[in-house]
Amino acid sequence: MCGIVSYIGPKEAYPIIVKGLKRLEYRGYDSAGVALIHNDELNIYKTKGKVADLEESVKGKDVSGNIGMGHTRWATHGEPNNANAHPHLSQSKNLAVIHNGIIENYATIKAELQQRGHIFESDTDTEVLIHLIEDIQMNENISIDESVRLALNQVIGAYAIVILVKNEPAKLIAARKGSPLVVGIGDQPGEYFMASDATPIVEYTRDVFYLNDGEIAIIKDGNLSVKTIDNVTKTPFIQKLEINLEQIEKGGYPHFMLKEIYEQPKSIQDSIRGRIDSIQGKFVMRSIHEYEDKLRNVKRLILIGCGTSWHAALVGEYLFEEYARIPVEVEYASEFRYRNPIIYPDDLVIAISQSGETADTLAAMELAKEKGATVFGVCNVVGSSIPRMSHAGAYTHAGPEIGVASTKAFTAQVSVLTLMALSVAQIRGVISQERLRTTLSELEAIPQLVERCLKTNDEVMKIAAIYKDARNFLYLGRGVNFPVALEGALKLKEISYIHAEGYPAAEMKHGPIALIDEEMPVVVIAPKRGMYEKVMSNIQEVKARKGKIIAIVTEGDTQVRAMADHVIEIPDTEEALTPLLSTIPLQLLSYHIAVLRGCNVDQPRNLAKSVTVE
Ligand code: G6P
Repeated sequence: MCGIVSYIGPKEAYPIIVKGLKRLEYRGYDSAGVALIHNDELNIYKTKGKVADLEESVKGKDVSGNIGMGHTRWATHGEPNNANAHPHLSQSKNLAVIHNGIIENYATIKAELQQRGHIFESDTDTEVLIHLIEDIQMNENISIDESVRLALNQVIGAYAIVILVKNEPAKLIAARKGSPLVVGIGDQPGEYFMASDATPIVEYTRDVFYLNDGEIAIIKDGNLSVKTIDNVTKTPFIQKLEINLEQIEKGGYPHFMLKEIYEQPKSIQDSIRGRIDSIQGKFVMRSIHEYEDKLRNVKRLILIGCGTSWHAALVGEYLFEEYARIPVEVEYASEFRYRNPIIYPDDLVIAISQSGETADTLAAMELAKEKGATVFGVCNVVGSSIPRMSHAGAYTHAGPEIGVASTKAFTAQVSVLTLMALSVAQIRGVISQERLRTTLSELEAIPQLVERCLKTNDEVMKIAAIYKDARNFLYLGRGVNFPVALEGALKLKEISYIHAEGYPAAEMKHGPIALIDEEMPVVVIAPKRGMYEKVMSNIQEVKARKGKIIAIVTEGDTQVRAMADHVIEIPDTEEALTPLLSTIPLQLLSYHIAVLRGCNVDQPRNLAKSVTVE
């Protein structure tokens, strides 16, 4: 939901900002803009469309300057046009702002400001904020730093903002609440970077700090200071970045999504590495050890997430019930937070998120904490808000995921949830050492088996070519592969814009079967283990109505092969682990269909990767 980046220092700001914006485009790509101060002029360029359109539009213009900021937008208030693109200016045009988030009470503030003669050029909440800041500054005759602080006390909502001041060209002001902001400390004196995540910063410095909610960072004449919006001075906690440049580049692949699909043997391996000792049948997970007593007595688990992370939660439900024998509820974070959910202090809530910034998930965690539950996080982005808000948890070590459609984050989440479920099962004494050892060694073999699944790529590509023009797809799965069906359908919808639905295979007869005719491709996940016979009956039901079957089967399968129009083989493994394999060909299928349809795979329309609005 909008990416922001800014620079101050001895270098030219524009190239750094534009490069950074391209890295942040996964956060939104409705419009792009920059503001630069050069020779006491505040130059603003902005345009509807992508960062590449912005680059095109600034050709021949003055983009010099050692201080500047840029924005890539995912529209919330106001359609994606030039006027609504950031940066936005104050009434006198002395202040410019970029913003990620939503100012919820903007309409009231706007009405008041309009009464006092303010004229607005956009429909955005952001423009209201910068007018308010200037209004306070002028009325109270105070510094801009102070007026920013006072204005932020008046607004309700979420923000990460950066402000440039035309008549103070050696100053940058930034603040955050709810939306992320990382500050990089450059190796040149007085050099600083600010961005929504560390990807625009990593090639210049590894020293960063994450601004906390309600904090304001001010860089003035080469010096950095941090205070809260309550005016308490803070000392930033500087840490070293763990990501490297290679991880955030395409590395020879045509799209990030394909690269990330192919990275899964490694990302799964990295997510389990060092966390299990399959010989001894033990786990090395700090959060689990620290909360051993709690986990021994926990009565119920509530798994929350959004999008693909919610699908991982559904797999998690199966894993925790199967291995740890604990009742589990899975909730969409957005629904959970707006009900009046019953949460007991001996519940454990596990929030699952790739980005660690999803607003609904954060709000749901806050609610669970307020009600006294212990909250764990399973998150991919180190230092993001969700791990910081949780009592404990485990990172997925998938590495940066840049394609908007989640792939490797999903399998990493499922891997970590498997480890958690098994370790909790051990703590509660509900799994035999023998079963534990077998499952752990099967889990350790998964990365190699994923390699084998990736070898289906050519076959999947051929199937994609046959069905690329289909208008609908059905995905069916049972048990632990039902969430895989949902995830397969979501992937296809997201990137190819083909309508697709995932269903529990047995539910098909209660409605979706009415849709089946010779035009309807039906993807059925039918591994040998897990209600195989029942799934075969479901396949028969589809075939009887002339539907086209694309079946995901276990290597060597003959029975489904005899009925299906196409089969894709995956290796055999324990039933509970099959999602880690069955999901791979489905990712490839969506990818190839989207490519064949000419869709923008990495940046599908209307979507954003990090959803920091509610
Ligand atoms: C967006 C993304 C999805 C993601 C979901 C939840 O919708 O496009 O890929 O699954 O947000 O995000 P999270 O970062 O919390 O996993």
